[in-house]
Amino acid sequence: MRYAIIRAMPTLKPETPGHRAAAAPGAQPLSLAFCGLPFSSPIVLLSGCVGFGEEYTRIEGFSNRDAGAIVLKGTTGKPRLGNPPHRVYETPAGMLNAIGLQNPGVDHVVHEILPQLDFSETRFIANVCGSTIEEYVEVTRRFDESPIDAVEINISCPNVREGGVAFGNYPDMSAQVIAACRRVTAKPLIAKLSPNQTDIRENARRCIEAGADALAVINTIMGMAIDVRTRRPVIGNVQGGLSGPAIKPIALLKVHQVYEVARPHKVPIIGQGGITSAADALEFLIAGATAVGIGTALFYDPMICKRVNEGIAEYLRGQGLVSVGELVGTLATRSDTLDCAVSG
Ligand SMILES: Cc1cc2nc3c(=O)[nH]c(=O)nc-3n(C[C@H](O)[C@H](O)[C@H](O)COP(=O)(O)O)c2cc1C
Repeated sequence: MRYAIIRAMPTLKPETPGHRAAAAPGAQPLSLAFCGLPFSSPIVLLSGCVGFGEEYTRIEGFSNRDAGAIVLKGTTGKPRLGNPPHRVYETPAGMLNAIGLQNPGVDHVVHEILPQLDFSETRFIANVCGSTIEEYVEVTRRFDESPIDAVEINISCPNVREGGVAFGNYPDMSAQVIAACRRVTAKPLIAKLSPNQTDIRENARRCIEAGADALAVINTIMGMAIDVRTRRPVIGNVQGGLSGPAIKPIALLKVHQVYEVARPHKVPIIGQGGITSAADALEFLIAGATAVGIGTALFYDPMICKRVNEGIAEYLRGQGLVSVGELVGTLATRSDTLDCAVSG
């Protein structure tokens, strides 16, 4: 991936130290409990970037054990072939994708893929998609009867009954999907929020009220690219989701905003969007994420987990923190900052 922007790496040693505490011998500073699930690391490998959990295990040196959890590719009721090409396009500091939820359908995932996964290595999370509420419910129910550890609801899918608008862009529709899925599973239920809406906080609030145990913040941001030679859209689907470092500052703000809503309910957040280093991951943790997602960065550095784990552990040691949980939501803000779109 080409990086047009030279990244100013924030220092890993902030001026103000956090709590000073001696680490107990044998303590695992990176481990945490997420909705009651034991995670060995705060890193979550993101849906659509790791196939169905087996993709990177063929690469020498890669281990699923380096991630606290792995989210499988979005799964629908029936198999889907996905969108016509082009389906991905590299942009400065990011990529556009419109894969179109290519997947073999929930039957195949539950009967053929899940039995192949080694659940002793990490936690596996399903990513559920649907074009109707009934489809979301049916796919969630099927995963509820499977060994999967948790279910993430990708509310960014288009609602065919409402003319293709994404469920996740409207708080009412998001809440309806989450409430309906809640009724058919006792497994941890994660609502994956869309950034393509006016107020992500309202959506987060409604999803929590509807029964979400956790929130994933954020999914991709809609964008497009044009081939000036042909004057046609580069992406076959015209629009695609932008991911990678280009979206990191936006994702970080959304996590900060959603944390305000989620914290009183003790609802944890998987912060994601453009993370490529330990410093990025630390920013998300400080903003309020309990776990941090890595997606696009895996495409150019499949070994990124080791690097990020080491960097977080080194930071914790330097700050005298005994566990990563102590860092979550420790952002220091002034009380007189404005909560509106002021820049310049
Ligand atoms: C090629 C590709 C496919 C994706 N497929 C899915 C998907 O099936 N379900 C989903 O919820 N998110 C999907 N995403 C979004 C990612 O899971 C993630 O939320 C987003 O890319 C932001 O993180 P990143 O910048 O680290 O990639 C996909 C992203 C990419 C790049």
